[in-house]
Amino acid sequence: MAQILETAIDIAREAGALLAGYFERGIGFDLKGEFDLVTAADRASEELVIERLQTHFPSHNILGEEGGLREKNSEYCWYVDPLDGTTNFAHGFPMFNVTMGLERSGELIAGVIYDPLRQEMFAAELGGGAFLNGRRIRTSKAAKLESSLLATGFPSRKRHENVNVHFFHQVAVTSHGVRRGGSAALDLAYVACGRLDGFWEFGLNPWDMAAGLIIVREAGGRYSDMKGGPGSVRGEHIAVTNGPIHDELLGLFA
Ligand code: IPD
Ligand code: CA
Ligand code: CA
Repeated sequence: MAQILETAIDIAREAGALLAGYFERGIGFDLKGEFDLVTAADRASEELVIERLQTHFPSHNILGEEGGLREKNSEYCWYVDPLDGTTNFAHGFPMFNVTMGLERSGELIAGVIYDPLRQEMFAAELGGGAFLNGRRIRTSKAAKLESSLLATGFPSRKRHENVNVHFFHQVAVTSHGVRRGGSAALDLAYVACGRLDGFWEFGLNPWDMAAGLIIVREAGGRYSDMKGGPGSVRGEHIAVTNGPIHDELLGLFA
């Protein structure tokens, strides 16, 4: 199992370096140029990750954001977001990552999130704890929403149909603030290492959450859906916290 995680870490580092190269070339581009570059970066990163995963784990299923499902009838499934934080990337806003989560028979067992600009590698495997660049990380000790910093996000499509702006307002006036970093996987990684105390969002996809959820749990945090039911990578909404503020946050959503 440790070997699987090490391999995923190597792949994430390689894909991250590729993304950083595109990012540096793109700074200063006009908007159209930037978006072409983004599409190219997205695809090149996914191609690299899929190729490496298939070489190391030829029997595993892979679900990538760009390429859909490669079904091998396996109990293992990788969820891959080759570039999480596309809008940031396109604007030269330095917050994005590459992320991979692994499920076995429906249970998350490993995940990596790599931020190539800060060279921060978040990683965890089931039962083994969570790590940032090899050092153990733990969720924060914040006990109350009023002393917490949280994050959320909004979908890039059909934003007008999204009710989240109401929750955003409610949590913002109850806490130290709500950040909208533009990269769901890094939001989750930041909850895991205590830079944030909580996160919630509607409409995320499995590849946005798979790695982050296991990393948060292994760091001592908690997740559920926003009504308190079991959280899932396939769920319509997710609430993720350090643990102590979880019930209070769910109370606000109710
Ligand atoms: C998006 C980011 C963003 C979140 C969106 C996601 P993408 O992923 O994670 O933070 O709010 O819901 O779709 O499109 O940049 O891979
Ligand atoms: Ca994403
Ligand atoms: Ca993406």
